[in-house]
Amino acid sequence: MKHTILLTMSAAAMVACGPKGDPQLGHASIDKVVAAMTLEEKAHLVIGTGMAGTDGEAPVVGATRNLVPGAAGTTYPIPRLGIPSIVLADGPAGLRINPTREGDSNTYYCTHFPIGTLLASTWDQELVESVGDAIGEEVLEYGADVLLAPALNIHRNPLCGRNFEYYSEDPVVSGKIAAAYVRGVQKNNVGTSIKHFALNNQETNRMGNDARVSPRAIREIYLKGFEIAVKESQPWTVMSSYNYLNGVYTSESKELQTTILRDDWGFEGMVMTDWFGGKDAVAQMYAGNDMLQPGRAGQFEDIVEGVKSGRLAEADLDRNVRRVLELIVKSPRFKGYEYSNKPDLKAHAAVTRQSATEGMVLLENNGALPFSPEIKNVALFGNTSYDFIAGGTGSGNVNRAYTVSLLEGLGNVGYNVDESLKTFYEKYIEVETAKVNPKSDDPMAHFFPKNRPAEYVPEAKALAGTVNKNDVAIITIGRNSGEFLDRKLADFSLSKEETRLIESVCEAFHAAGKKVVVVLNIGGVIETASWKHLPDAVLCAWQAGQEGGNSVADVLKGNACPSGKLTMTFPVAYGDHASSRNFPIDLEFGMFGKTMNEKKESVRNVDYTEYEEGIYVGYRWFDKENISVSYPFGYGLSYTSFVYDEPSVKHTGKKTEVTVKVTNTGNFAGKEVVQLYVSAPKGAMDKPLKELKAFAKTRELKPGESEVVTLSVADADLSSFDESKGAWVTDAGEYAFHIGASSRDIKSTVRAEVKGSVTKVNELL
Ligand code: BGC
Repeated sequence: MKHTILLTMSAAAMVACGPKGDPQLGHASIDKVVAAMTLEEKAHLVIGTGMAGTDGEAPVVGATRNLVPGAAGTTYPIPRLGIPSIVLADGPAGLRINPTREGDSNTYYCTHFPIGTLLASTWDQELVESVGDAIGEEVLEYGADVLLAPALNIHRNPLCGRNFEYYSEDPVVSGKIAAAYVRGVQKNNVGTSIKHFALNNQETNRMGNDARVSPRAIREIYLKGFEIAVKESQPWTVMSSYNYLNGVYTSESKELQTTILRDDWGFEGMVMTDWFGGKDAVAQMYAGNDMLQPGRAGQFEDIVEGVKSGRLAEADLDRNVRRVLELIVKSPRFKGYEYSNKPDLKAHAAVTRQSATEGMVLLENNGALPFSPEIKNVALFGNTSYDFIAGGTGSGNVNRAYTVSLLEGLGNVGYNVDESLKTFYEKYIEVETAKVNPKSDDPMAHFFPKNRPAEYVPEAKALAGTVNKNDVAIITIGRNSGEFLDRKLADFSLSKEETRLIESVCEAFHAAGKKVVVVLNIGGVIETASWKHLPDAVLCAWQAGQEGGNSVADVLKGNACPSGKLTMTFPVAYGDHASSRNFPIDLEFGMFGKTMNEKKESVRNVDYTEYEEGIYVGYRWFDKENISVSYPFGYGLSYTSFVYDEPSVKHTGKKTEVTVKVTNTGNFAGKEVVQLYVSAPKGAMDKPLKELKAFAKTRELKPGESEVVTLSVADADLSSFDESKGAWVTDAGEYAFHIGASSRDIKSTVRAEVKGSVTKVNELL
């Protein structure tokens, strides 16, 4: 259903010359268009058109803001050359635009899909591609041109406030999932922006923090995912990050934005800053950070002045202008696409409901799940059960029409939910939420997570009545976080009320021989070791998008078999992570940090963060130190069981191919995630015990069915970055290929001889 919205700029682009004989984009060559531009026009084109609320600073005031209200930014239009403005909009869990418009009775809601962490936990590239495809359709049909997603910074530490948008502690998972997402979105002929390039691993003082990192860790851990995404999916754009890297703003680093991204990896698109990122517009232009968003008047002046004074070569500016134009000519708006404003929201609700079930991770299950057919009446505890969290806050949020709570989801699949608990909780949440969220005039307030009221701990006597009336209890534990702030240590642990709630409900229900299930509606890792033995099952549902309650109910009932696995480690204690020694724990410096408050001395973990752990992030660290974990990387249970057999390996040409037969030996149809870890032969370099190099998910296997899974690893991907040689080095020798159901559940190991190689790269960073 495409309806007619005429785009005047694209009509202009159809004719060879404008009224005054000016070359027109799309008709004349890009070189001709660039040659016809004034210096001022070029400077305008490489910066955005400003942002609502920052008009005083904006180069054009509001002129393009109404193209798609609520979009994060637009590019600068130059009508005389047939250059339209195109629209850039967030974000990772779905398109973020305003849902309503003044004087317009139509609505513009978008689908809130599952958060990035959940998508990655599916380990299913095809599925993520199909979710990306659905998101891309909304981008196209709502008239946006570039989606500011996916976000793939590494989960360096569990407390990073934006981990929910990101994928994993492992670069291969991050890169492969991001590539799938990009392919899916871009199938719709709209663009993506992989972000935040790079090393934006904390929110505290994110615009002033200097990430101090070794070249090896930069290349192997923090850039690897971006490299994979660029090479496997060619995103239309890349978004540079806010932070410094070893003393240089990433958006001002030519090494990062040109030498590595373009020269080494072959990136062909355009680079834009994160919103208001970096300080020196001329340095950014020189670095190859082609466009500055959302655009400030001062940047315009600096660029014009830079060219006039010779500080910025006009050829460098022209190169960036050309890349912006190359992006514009690919855009639907330039091509005159007649968007409908009517994406298929109904179909997408089904996509998010189903895909979310595939990324939920069953952490514990002593037979409580799926619910047996005798289970009819459910006692639902925990504020979050009634106020389900679809996703995180900030630019990763989506303006959706609704969020299905667990209460509604259970009802939708036919369970009776205890009415008196429901009545109690609805009142309690209303009153207590207001108490912990006093009215605020801060215009940014909607950007931050709401304070969540403490859990109510029922008295034993009241519980006894509830136990009698119900067949099972469910407790939901909720967490929310978002942009600008890192999570607090207290957010990692359960509160004393949460612990007591779990303890008392378990005690009362178990005394009557009834089971208790804990659902985690969280965006990042929490502490589980101290309480996970209490309930009968624990389902990590993540933040599962707007259909979250339905998706969880599908899993609890057994309409869907959980097949997600963790893309990060759940440690026993927060401090077990090596990075915890160098992370802003409970520091109140927020977005701007102290640097912006004219502080004299530098503050550790605020102004700078030493990545002392080097490459030992996540399981690489826990394995090296042999530290017990609550749940290892790659872990996840199923309603069925799988046997791995007939492993084989063959080395051909320049890659190793490992196959294994996976058979469903249980009674439930399900899918299995198979992981391939590699241990290198002893060589000169210190290496992790093993590293993930490939993974795959089987199709749904019925009981008794098998699938032969093939995993392949190129020799070049076995290399480590040798700082002393400035080269990627694959040592010659025998490599061990471990086929695992998780990083700590290796089913078999096969070995192959690999020839060595050394690939020199530019000395950088
Ligand atoms: C975020 C980006 C986002 C941009 C535009 C920034 O604050 O860091 O991820 O795309 O805003 O909304």
